[in-house]
Amino acid sequence: MAEHFSVTGGARLSGEVDVVGAKNSVLKLMAAALLAEGTTTLTNCPEILDVPLMADVLRSLGCTVVIEGDTARITTPPDPRETADYRSVSKLRASVCVLGPLVARCRRAVVPLPGGDAIGSRPLDMHASGLRKLGAHTEISHGKVVAHAENLRGAQIWLDFPSVGATENILMAAVLADGTTVIDNAAREPEIVDLCTMLAQMGAKIEGTGSSTLTVHGVTSLAPTEHRVIGDRIVGATWAFAAAMSQGEITVRGVNPHHLDLVLDKLRTAGADITTGLDSFTVAMNERPRAVDFVTLPYPGFATDLQPMAIALSAVADGTSMITENVFEARFRFVDEMVRLGADARTDGHHAVVRGVPRLSSAPVWASDIRAGAGLVLAGLCAEGVSEVWDVEHIDRGYPRFVENLRALGAEVSRVTAEPDR
Ligand code: UD1
Repeated sequence: MAEHFSVTGGARLSGEVDVVGAKNSVLKLMAAALLAEGTTTLTNCPEILDVPLMADVLRSLGCTVVIEGDTARITTPPDPRETADYRSVSKLRASVCVLGPLVARCRRAVVPLPGGDAIGSRPLDMHASGLRKLGAHTEISHGKVVAHAENLRGAQIWLDFPSVGATENILMAAVLADGTTVIDNAAREPEIVDLCTMLAQMGAKIEGTGSSTLTVHGVTSLAPTEHRVIGDRIVGATWAFAAAMSQGEITVRGVNPHHLDLVLDKLRTAGADITTGLDSFTVAMNERPRAVDFVTLPYPGFATDLQPMAIALSAVADGTSMITENVFEARFRFVDEMVRLGADARTDGHHAVVRGVPRLSSAPVWASDIRAGAGLVLAGLCAEGVSEVWDVEHIDRGYPRFVENLRALGAEVSRVTAEPDR
């Protein structure tokens, strides 16, 4: 038996929704706890499976992790183990972010390769070459990344591409290296800023936080801290798209609207009325959205994680949209599922052309990853009839209480356990 979401189209979503901490931040902050002996406390953690999975990775390294509600307490021993457990790592791609902290703390790290992903190839060459620049010997063999360094030394590092994961791993190694490291073409995502903020609270010396040049003056040790995880901008933006697509009105609380400047501007162009507060915003739409083009790029560009929402909006918009995917080459695979829902969409390389239709039609569809799954649910909410969205375990990994939140906003959605048709 498997679970699916039964999604009835047609409701106009309205109301308020609270967004909790960002998945893409909390997992890296948990890894950063390895950098300091003692107990690090993280609050505003999302209740998603990835958090206990990351806790298992840390336990395999000798940490004690206690999760109570939205709080995670991670106690790191004086001498963490250097080898991460394959079974824990294989369930969670993001666990590769223990590599930098481990090599910094233990001088040696063995992290099994987490494996492939439905959104495309996710190599680790920039992670490895950055650590090599810091003086680590790294090799990928027998399905593992092995890194060791007698002494990490500060270095000048230029990234070929502002990779989020590579920036984080290099940063977390550099904070305990001898001397100064400069990471150029660093990623600037708000989650990197959150990591820099927590590292600074732990005693790290980082300049240029939020810019594409991070200068890190290595220190000899860091202290544990208490930190509140930033709100999940991708979840917040998903609700913004839900309001625009359903011609409803949703107030999103718990997300800094500046993290979504470009996204909210796109929705304004599509016809939405948007008001912003300190850590909240409201999206109201009174007409069918107008077609707009989207181009995914590293932050502050339009997030690749929101590309499925862009396709879903375009599928019901008035006019034709061009969506360009520049970050993960396989991310358009889910478009065929959108077509099953009646979208007039075709892809060619890293471009998708979507001609909006007034109404989609219900169908059974399969979520290939977290964000594709959320995009399919939004599309189902604009389809005639009842759609089934399968493989919901993906959606559960990124959207805490998704069904409950949708229902509170007036959507007719339920979680059903049944035998899948295929
Ligand atoms: C993170 C996010 C993911 C988001 C992505 C881009 C987490 C847990 N995941 O993933 O949700 O979609 O950022 O915003 O935070 N690349 C290389 N070599 C490398 C590293 C990356 O070629 O060594 C390429 C990747 O294949 C991809 C691009 O760089 O094409 C971006 O990847 P990256 O920014 O590293 O994404 P992740 O950190 O894996």
